[in-house]
Amino acid sequence: MTDINNAIASINEKGFLDIDIDPELDLFAAIENLKKEKNAVILAHYYQEPDIQDVADYIGDSLGLAQQAEKTSADMIVFAGVHFMAETAKILNPNKKVLLPDLNAGCSLSDSAPPALFKIFKEKHPNHKVITYINCSAGIKALSDIICTSSNAQKIIETLPIDQPIIFAPDKNLGAYINKKTGRNMVLWNGSCMVHEIFSLEKITRLKIRHPKAKLIAHPECEESVLRVADFIGSTTGLLKFTKTDDATEFIVATETGILHQMQKASPKKVFIPAPPDNSCACNDCPHMKLNTLEKLYLCLKYEKPEILMDEQLRIAAKKPIDEMLKISAQYGL
Ligand code: 13P
Ligand code: SF4
Repeated sequence: MTDINNAIASINEKGFLDIDIDPELDLFAAIENLKKEKNAVILAHYYQEPDIQDVADYIGDSLGLAQQAEKTSADMIVFAGVHFMAETAKILNPNKKVLLPDLNAGCSLSDSAPPALFKIFKEKHPNHKVITYINCSAGIKALSDIICTSSNAQKIIETLPIDQPIIFAPDKNLGAYINKKTGRNMVLWNGSCMVHEIFSLEKITRLKIRHPKAKLIAHPECEESVLRVADFIGSTTGLLKFTKTDDATEFIVATETGILHQMQKASPKKVFIPAPPDNSCACNDCPHMKLNTLEKLYLCLKYEKPEILMDEQLRIAAKKPIDEMLKISAQYGL
């Protein structure tokens, strides 16, 4: 497929622009030039492949990325992440062009909460505040009171009175972790992340025996059995900061493998071991995040497609709980 019109027409089916690229082209230089020419910014999540992280203007966790999206002065945002992240950027920037290299880059956690079912669930729990993890669709955000991420969830929950009934969605593992930390009994939606649920406690335990000095660091989307034995639990940014400041020189990392690129760059002398999944697959690579490639990113910046487009009423309804999250995060310096 080389013809741009055919490629654009097939975006709905394939999710990305399928156009041949000259194999001699220096993609890194070409992306830099396009960024300048179009006043575009590339925001990338830590789970993106290393090459994408290396051309990004900002790399961060979900909260950091939303904060950057809110304050950018660029005309165009290329979001190297998954759909709900790019959608959040669009919700915050209705007048900017927001692009996602592959529209099919979804999220199992977000998919676990279809808005129609969630609406019924919410109606069954009147008087509950709905606190929703940012890994959800705009339809779910529009049904929520406050959005949170893994780095501010606890703080946001703690701003509510202790006797306030709460629905927490869609991640049951993060919800259970916050219940434990805050002594609350939030009602949890039964969703989970396919990547963080895959770690094998048995294999981690064996690794710890082989590497007695290594610290186990885990993302709160992991199951309780893994979190229970972790030396440190945090968002991707939290985990990265911990590896920079902690005295340990070896870490077993229970989150998506993309983060290891920044950990290794920041601490070249330290050893980072990806926590093993419960079989021999590469399931601790998020298949959604890894749909984006440097080639797709280049094409998306060059042809300004695929673009995130949204219904304005939905956007306005979904923006309210995001604004609330950003306001609380700013208050607490998060
Ligand atoms: P954070 O970026 O908030 O750590 O979340 C991880 C994740 O799974 C994003 O999809
Ligand atoms: Fe969704 Fe999990 Fe992939 Fe993050 S790592 S995008 S939560 S499936």
